[in-house]
Amino acid sequence: MHEDVAPESLEWGYLNRRITVAPKKSVLELCVALSRRVPGNIVEFGVANGDSTRILRRALGRSEKRIYACDSFEGLREKFENAEIGTFACNPPRIRGVEIVKGYFEDSLTPELAARVGRVAFASLDADLYSSTSCALRWLTPLLGSGSLLLFDEFLGEKESEKRAFEDWSHETGLRTVRIAEFLREPSGWGTRIDKRPLFQVIGGDLLPKPAVPLRDRFRGGRLGGIARRARDLVFR
Ligand SMILES: C[S@@+](CC[C@H](N)C(=O)[O-])C[C@H]1O[C@@H](n2cnc3c(N)ncnc32)[C@H](O)[C@@H]1O
Repeated sequence: MHEDVAPESLEWGYLNRRITVAPKKSVLELCVALSRRVPGNIVEFGVANGDSTRILRRALGRSEKRIYACDSFEGLREKFENAEIGTFACNPPRIRGVEIVKGYFEDSLTPELAARVGRVAFASLDADLYSSTSCALRWLTPLLGSGSLLLFDEFLGEKESEKRAFEDWSHETGLRTVRIAEFLREPSGWGTRIDKRPLFQVIGGDLLPKPAVPLRDRFRGGRLGGIARRARDLVFR
């Protein structure tokens, strides 16, 4: 991503005097607004004292969507940039209309919880670590459908952990997503380099019903066959 950019221009100290970044509140509100038309509920991974959860709750207003907020509330299990183990440890917040799911994802993200949550319209991934983000994504996979939104809070944090987790998961599952937005942000984990919040939307899976008879057999040859093949390759690749 950064190959053609001078290294000093990625330093927050250089950039924060030159650019305006969208506040996290605006990004979360936008995601909630975009998720309104998408069937399903909202899940947040990484809650801490609930600042972001309250923003989600307020933005949701009277919608029937439910919010599930998942965190161990024991803080980070691994060092993350300049943040020590245990950073963010706190008591679970109490937020009306939000179900708090307390526990390490590895224990708390169960099939029973998946059955309760059902389809997910919007997942906010803010658990920083590669292991935690991977665990959340794997659990989420069967709950996602066309239109589901995935927001990452610090894609380029320590060794690009969220980015690597997303890329490995995309590779493993083959689930197709498009990056529909990307917002710059101050460095994560109190590092010094610019970071970003990308927003992905799932476009694979149930976007179009898979044809029972392969398109190539239905429109063998001809101009229509070529168009059908290209459309099929785009959607089901
Ligand atoms: C950056 S904080 C979340 C901040 C919050 N979203 C906000 O904006 O106010 C990251 C949180 O992820 C939680 N976390 C990280 N890995 C986890 C795991 N494997 N299981 C449960 N919680 C985890 C930590 O406890 C921490 O509270």
